[in-house]
Amino acid sequence: MTYILSGKSESSRLDAQAEIPQFSLKRELEGIDLRPGASVLDAGCGSGILCRYLEHNYRDLAIYGCDLSRSSLSHARTLSKRSTFFNHDFIGNPLPGSYDFIFNRLVAHHLTADLLLMGFKNFFNALSSGGELVVIDPDGLLLNLGTLDLQLRDQIAQVSRAFSGDLQVARAIPQLLRQCGFQEVSWRIDMMDFQGEARRLEVAQWKERFENSIDFYVSIFGTELEARRFIRRYLEEASRDDVPLFYNKFIVRGKRP
Ligand SMILES: C[S@@+](CC[C@H](N)C(=O)[O-])C[C@H]1O[C@@H](n2cnc3c(N)ncnc32)[C@H](O)[C@@H]1O
Repeated sequence: MTYILSGKSESSRLDAQAEIPQFSLKRELEGIDLRPGASVLDAGCGSGILCRYLEHNYRDLAIYGCDLSRSSLSHARTLSKRSTFFNHDFIGNPLPGSYDFIFNRLVAHHLTADLLLMGFKNFFNALSSGGELVVIDPDGLLLNLGTLDLQLRDQIAQVSRAFSGDLQVARAIPQLLRQCGFQEVSWRIDMMDFQGEARRLEVAQWKERFENSIDFYVSIFGTELEARRFIRRYLEEASRDDVPLFYNKFIVRGKRP
């Protein structure tokens, strides 16, 4: 598997992202009963932000994180107090171990529905009986910008077509979980509406997302100059307070019977 966001600053970007209220881990975990003694895996843990949150806020959990990226894992290991991290591609590879909870946060849109199905089957097989999968993913990332600039809209559509993932796959996750055999599938959709200070922080996130995947944009627009022209225009529009910038965050849960 490949993943387009890379670079040393990617881990610190993910840590900063979790500070934006719209990405609040506290809110995402509301209603999830992580009982003492449970073993929990964060699949696609990135900088380890969720593992550290669990370490600080829950007692007696056995916490694991896995990711494709070795540099993210070493960042995660440095900051974590008691989580165990391992390098693993969960698409096409069975997961080692057995878990009561598996989290998969902000990863799904980087994959297509077909690949996700493979990953979710691996999660299903790695859950204990009665164990629960929680998939958290924003629907409409990059796409949901209320711009009137027709050229920019075309370019956004061009980026979306070239992207190896699916920026609106979150809405299909409940069906995918059912197809893998999960039961009691349920979801909550939280509106991520960026205004005021939250918008300033999310635009800063976009700057870093673009920078950490600049080669991808150059491959679409032909030259670095053209790629940076698109990025500048996107950031200008995203910074306007009369242009809505919003995603729908899906928090989808399913149980292994
Ligand atoms: C946007 S980051 C999110 C990281 C973290 N879950 C968070 O909430 O900040 C997506 C992460 O998924 C990882 N990833 C993508 N595909 C993966 C796969 N097939 N197996 C394991 N990790 C994967 C990437 O390496 C990256 O660290």
